[in-house]
Amino acid sequence: MSLLIPLSLLFVFAAYKLYQQPRYKLPPGPHPWPIIGNIFSIKTQPFRCFDEWSRCYGPIISVWFGSSLNIIVSTAELAEKVLKENDHQLANRHRNMTATQLTKGGKDLIWADYGPHHIKVRKVCTLELFSPKSLEAQRPIREDEVAAMIQSIFKDCTRGNGLLVRDYLREVTFNIITRMVLGKRFASLGREMDEQTSEFRAVAAAEQMGVVYLGLAEYIPWLRWMFWLKKKEINKHEARRDQQIRPLMEEHKLAGKGSPGPVNAVKYFLNALLTQQDKYDLSDDTVNGLIWDMVNAGKDTSLISVEWAIAELIRNPDVQLKAHEELDRVIGSDRAMNELDLPNLPYLQCIAKEALRLHPPTPLLLPHKANADVKIGRYDIPRGSIVLVNVWAICRDPAIWPDPLAFRPERFTEQDVDVKGHDFRLLPFGAGRRVCPGAQLGINLVNSMLGHLLHHFNWSLPRGTKPGEIDMMEEHPGLVAYMRTPLQAVPSPRLPANLYKQNKKDM
Ligand code: HEM
Repeated sequence: MSLLIPLSLLFVFAAYKLYQQPRYKLPPGPHPWPIIGNIFSIKTQPFRCFDEWSRCYGPIISVWFGSSLNIIVSTAELAEKVLKENDHQLANRHRNMTATQLTKGGKDLIWADYGPHHIKVRKVCTLELFSPKSLEAQRPIREDEVAAMIQSIFKDCTRGNGLLVRDYLREVTFNIITRMVLGKRFASLGREMDEQTSEFRAVAAAEQMGVVYLGLAEYIPWLRWMFWLKKKEINKHEARRDQQIRPLMEEHKLAGKGSPGPVNAVKYFLNALLTQQDKYDLSDDTVNGLIWDMVNAGKDTSLISVEWAIAELIRNPDVQLKAHEELDRVIGSDRAMNELDLPNLPYLQCIAKEALRLHPPTPLLLPHKANADVKIGRYDIPRGSIVLVNVWAICRDPAIWPDPLAFRPERFTEQDVDVKGHDFRLLPFGAGRRVCPGAQLGINLVNSMLGHLLHHFNWSLPRGTKPGEIDMMEEHPGLVAYMRTPLQAVPSPRLPANLYKQNKKDM
């Protein structure tokens, strides 16, 4: 009797596979085991593992996570087929069970399937948060926070052993995003936190860890009952995350009835959304979901790029020197830079691009899902398959990039390569219908943080550490790829002391 259940499950799986085989010509890939598929053969950095498999099986491969089929493409031509030629059929999202519950089945933007809801919500975000006018209006927030970061690093830079660069970057991006989205700053490094701040930070940190992830059980329909064992945990998190936003929404609604608010106040995203809620017919769940989307998508991606860039600059001192020369020539040493200087700093922009090429923060983009049967080349992608684009592999493809592993920003002065989804060789923000709507904001953040860090400091390693010892492997806890070992570096000031003090702006 005890064997009966596993045997019948095996039979169902085998029957399913047999049923699939003749109908579809699937891309090749590693041999899947019954029930588990390939899931236990995937190494810690899946994008590296998929790259290795692509070398063996070809640029489009099938990988089974339990009974879920993943199609992974690893060349620029195939990325174009997925994100441009067949974009319409491949723009749904694969949501795990936690994301499904937290977003009430995709009522937000990131986890929404492609369709009228996605189109509407993207339009709202594009107009209200990411339009050139909104980005420009919020520039003082970004500059204020970047100046605060420089001040804190200056304060701490005498520590002989250097400092953990990520701590400062995490602080600045978190403050920028929360101020842009919620109009609020949730405390800062080394300062006492009030209860609301520590609760908000705890909820945001739990979001990053995926709250609850069931591993293999996510991909095996008959193991999904395990989700119910974790239901209490997810319900609790859902209530905590709602509790952060709902009172702000209520506050706004009450205030809105009386006064229009200060005329010159910088409009933050929650405010803008609630003002337009009726016009766009947005439910409270959608507003709540969008706020968390922005916090989640915005807080890690840019800091990841800057940390990698600083590591590369320490390993490549000639590049750092060239960046310092450009900054000294364009800005000089009697003022700090600001975002308006960026167009005059082409080499700095090339450094940021090169960091995004070698270390794309989301190496497999976000998981797309086929909403219809699609043919790519000789192969079928059945409806419901998860589709991943290995942009990490494309960005290191020697057929496209000469000397691909070298950190050489000059490659972008020799040829101009678009980074925002028009050139399929370089896709850190994706392309097509699901391209990152925050791409320009992300680029501004990376360029601005990097520019300030370089203008104000010379970066080196703690005494006794050699550049070759920096751990250049990734940690891939969810969708993003951090440096596996947080970078410890020594900043040495290179400008007059008065330029390290943040001038508080009234906003
Ligand atoms: C260097 C910084 C950033 C990088 C590399 C990046 C990268 C990406 C990528 C690869 C995607 C998925 C594309 C796909 O599915 O094909 C994405 C989606 C998204 N990003 Fe970004 N991003 C960055 C910054 C930001 C910022 C600052 C925000 C907002 C504050 C943001 C908001 C979003 C949203 C809302 C989506 C979902 C779009 C959709 O599903 O339609 N991103 N991003």
